[in-house]
Amino acid sequence: MATQTMAGQSAHYLRLEEQYGAHNYHPLPVVLEKGEGVFVWDVEGKQYFDFLSGYSAVNQGHCHPRIIQALIQQAQKLTLTSRAFHSNLLGEYAEFITRYFGYDKVLPMNTGVEGGETAVKLARRWAYDKKGVPENQAKVIFARGNFWGRTMAAISSSTDPSSYKGFGPYMPGFELVPYNNIPELEKALQDKNVAAFMVEPIQGEAGVVVPDAGYLTRVRELCTQYNVLFIADEIQTGLARTGKMLACDHENVRPDMLILGKALSGGTMPVSAVLADDEVMLNIKPGEHGSTYGGNPLACAVAMEALKVLKEEKLAENAAAMGELFRSRLEALQSPHIQLVRGKGLLNAAVIAHPDAEAAWTLCLELKDLGLLAKPTHGDKIRFAPPLVINEEQINDSISIISNALQRL
Ligand SMILES: Cc1ncc(COP(=O)(O)O)c(C=O)c1O
Repeated sequence: MATQTMAGQSAHYLRLEEQYGAHNYHPLPVVLEKGEGVFVWDVEGKQYFDFLSGYSAVNQGHCHPRIIQALIQQAQKLTLTSRAFHSNLLGEYAEFITRYFGYDKVLPMNTGVEGGETAVKLARRWAYDKKGVPENQAKVIFARGNFWGRTMAAISSSTDPSSYKGFGPYMPGFELVPYNNIPELEKALQDKNVAAFMVEPIQGEAGVVVPDAGYLTRVRELCTQYNVLFIADEIQTGLARTGKMLACDHENVRPDMLILGKALSGGTMPVSAVLADDEVMLNIKPGEHGSTYGGNPLACAVAMEALKVLKEEKLAENAAAMGELFRSRLEALQSPHIQLVRGKGLLNAAVIAHPDAEAAWTLCLELKDLGLLAKPTHGDKIRFAPPLVINEEQINDSISIISNALQRL
């Protein structure tokens, strides 16, 4: 390996993945080995701004020293008990996170999609036990363009052929309404068998689609009116990303179920959670739901520290301020290749206008060469979502990089 060129190292790792890994992703050709704050470094030692943040899992910045310290300390003590036994941290974590977000109970899981699955199960059970929906008739409504993961249930509610095509048959009991469309939602909610409406406050994977002001308020009102549970999938929008602790906080609405994931561990391990009140949560009885790793002591220690960091470092406030700055600087570039800039806080996207359908991908390759990593979503959109610890100087530097890349396009 000593004779291998620097560029050859990346090529080596790319070849290994290609040969031995399933081809279920289309990553940018960059091989990372280190991260700190807003920066990551590739195996050749080149530094980049990370404008993806692990799909918003790394809100607190890469390898946040306090989160890593919590991880190491707990890892040296006890990592997993399974839920067959109690641990000294699960109760403490449950009290901490329920008080933090103002719910009666938490159900801890691991990945985001498991959080979504858990919320759907809780909603169905509530519908049978509390709402009086006849057995096996419960419906859950989703918004078109949603993304909540890759399990059979998640793809069964997807409108994206690359998610669902060729994987049928699909989960029954799911229905779709257009996003950001209150009249259509109201029509759907009138069905007495509807258990829940599950929705992202801003659709992340669809390309950072921000609904009209007042949408979440009306969703809340209609769900209450029709006795339907409002499930907020805040896995990507939550935990300070959009400039508030939760994206629902922008309209001061409280969902009946709140799903969190990603940044709940600051990017260190899969930790997700469903929060709800007793009326919903206590319908599931011992033995009816769980996960070997859900609520493990390592996750509990890490999640508490990750949540403390968000508040103590005022990351929501920083996301709001830096987000405004980023959008205004990006718009001020007046690039003919940027059709639209949208987003809230540090969850932003630019819609690329260019005759070449591959322009967004090409632009991301240019950005990579210039030292900034971002990824297209849905063809012509590029998401710009750096860690929330970014400062003004770093925003200015990244805007210069984006400006240069746009000029190369
Ligand atoms: C809104 C939303 N929900 C759920 C998920 C699924 O999370 P995970 O990939 O951890 O299963 C994602 C992932 O991108 C997401 O953006």
